[in-house]
Amino acid sequence: MKILAFAGSNSAASINKKLVTYVASFFREHTIEVLDLNDYEMPLFGVDKIAKTGIPQQALDFAEKIDESHLLLISLAENNGAYTTAFKNIFDWISVIPERKAFWGDKPTFVMATSPGPRGGASVLNIASTTLPYYGAKIIDTFSLPGFHENFDSEKGITHAGAAAELQSKIEKIKADFLV
Ligand SMILES: Cc1cc2nc3c(=O)[nH]c(=O)nc-3n(C[C@H](O)[C@H](O)[C@H](O)COP(=O)(O)O)c2cc1C
Repeated sequence: MKILAFAGSNSAASINKKLVTYVASFFREHTIEVLDLNDYEMPLFGVDKIAKTGIPQQALDFAEKIDESHLLLISLAENNGAYTTAFKNIFDWISVIPERKAFWGDKPTFVMATSPGPRGGASVLNIASTTLPYYGAKIIDTFSLPGFHENFDSEKGITHAGAAAELQSKIEKIKADFLV
């Protein structure tokens, strides 16, 4: 099975990339690819550009990565209560690829978020889990890690016992339900 993982952030030190890479490490028996949004930087989306310049190759490439995968792991950074511009730009470009049935690809998707603060990206997680299904994502579970810097260690992973247990049980359920 192919698993595609990425953070909704273009930060070089992205804590969401750290979280999603950590979560992906529990799926080692599968083929895992962790994307970096910086490799998919495109012009700022605008409807006029669709006719003028066409859809950037990076959007087509990103969509192909989604289409080739069996499961998506994503961890969204929260900027001003919503998606980062980097993520939304890719999302919008993919959404205008002609004849793409469900542009999120009908893929089972585990949506996560983390932030340094106490809400753990709750707003962006809520936006994603309530709206991505309208765009073809099958949200199979969600996970939020508040206080990233207090609760995550680069060697040990999640150090908060309750959060670690919650994540483990969600991963086990995903494996049982979606990765035979
Ligand atoms: C412009 C901007 C807006 C932000 N807005 C929020 C916010 O609304 N909620 C939040 O929890 N953190 C917010 N943050 C802090 C981010 O959660 C923090 O920068 C985090 O590291 C982003 O994730 P990343 O490292 O994966 O990019 C904001 C940061 C920036 C730079």
